Amino acid sequence: MLTGLSIGREHKAFTSGPKDTTLMLDHVKDYYGKTLQSSADLQTDACCTLDAPPQHLQTVFAQLHEEVVNRYYGCGLVAPDALQGLRILDLGSGSGRDVYALSALVGERGSVVGVDMTDEQLAVAREYRDFHAKAFGYAASNVEFHKGYIEKLDELGFEDNSFDLIVSNCVINLSSDKDAVLQQTHRLLKPGGEMYFSDVYSDRRVPQALVDNELLYGECLSGALYWNDFINTAKRNGFADPRLVEDRPLSIDNEAIKKLVGPINFYSATYRLFKIDSLENSQENYAHTACYKGGVENNPERIIFDKQFSFEKNQPTAICSNTFKMLSESRFKDHFEFNAGDCAHVGLFATNSTATLPFDVQKKPTSGCC
Ligand SMILES: C[S@@+](CC[C@H](N)C(=O)[O-])C[C@H]1O[C@@H](n2cnc3c(N)ncnc32)[C@H](O)[C@@H]1O
Repeated sequence: MLTGLSIGREHKAFTSGPKDTTLMLDHVKDYYGKTLQSSADLQTDACCTLDAPPQHLQTVFAQLHEEVVNRYYGCGLVAPDALQGLRILDLGSGSGRDVYALSALVGERGSVVGVDMTDEQLAVAREYRDFHAKAFGYAASNVEFHKGYIEKLDELGFEDNSFDLIVSNCVINLSSDKDAVLQQTHRLLKPGGEMYFSDVYSDRRVPQALVDNELLYGECLSGALYWNDFINTAKRNGFADPRLVEDRPLSIDNEAIKKLVGPINFYSATYRLFKIDSLENSQENYAHTACYKGGVENNPERIIFDKQFSFEKNQPTAICSNTFKMLSESRFKDHFEFNAGDCAHVGLFATNSTATLPFDVQKKPTSGCC
């Protein structure tokens, strides 16, 4: 149900969450546990993934149990490259769609842990551990699910520096303490580890009246961070150089919701954040190059790192010093040949963007869901 509200003249500078966080938390639990039965019940395409996944992911998704897939409410693809053998944590794992897809991609020696606060979502996810172990030909399941809050991961007993990769799909917008989530994430990642996640962002700060609207919040819209506030939140929690991987504008077809959000534009975007202490806040040029040697599964000739950097096999590519560290101090290191040159600084690394928005405004929003 839509509550009547006026956005009126409210100009709150920066909202960090709903006024009554406990009430909103209960509402979100109810929304994902009871109100929604499948992705078809959503009112917008914020919690949907519309782009066709690459072939290797389509093959994995086709092996997943129907109930797990039907209760998928993610907004992007959280399956980066080079996953074999990794230990992965999924924040807000819902019915487990991404956990099970990652379970297939890490192989039997890898493992995936899902955390969610909603009993109904966890029940669906837990139900199919054996089903998927069998589907992937594993002797035993390599996944587990824990009930908990992503802001309070310290209550779940995970050790510091214990995950290679942390993913999340359309969840952090629902958190009223995004700093706590990123702080916990940073603590749990191994050095050189990565947070790779899809979420919803706005092109301006969302007025408090909209943040407090249960439907807009539950639909993953009004809890979205203004993208530049997200960049600063990431930086202050140890992730100095967030990298945008892909994005798309969200379409809002529901007229009542459209009227409420007014001029605010929402985007779904996937970022990668590396836990590497020596990263700088700016991209500096030391005339470094990296050359992709091949060998990353499903990337025989070319690998895309983010929207700015991609690598053709056997072709040295100029990179900034942060990218040099992200590749040479992470799981990607063995797949590249690096040339550090004489390490003399030659100024800022040239990027050709002067845009006020990092997302692709030319892309057409696609309507319809999943
Ligand atoms: C939009 S759904 C996405 C679920 C899943 N990632 C997917 O792609 O299907 C949001 C999920 O996050 C969970 N969630 C929201 N806020 C949470 C929090 N603070 N702590 C733990 N789980 C949370 C909800 O219970 C729900 O299952």
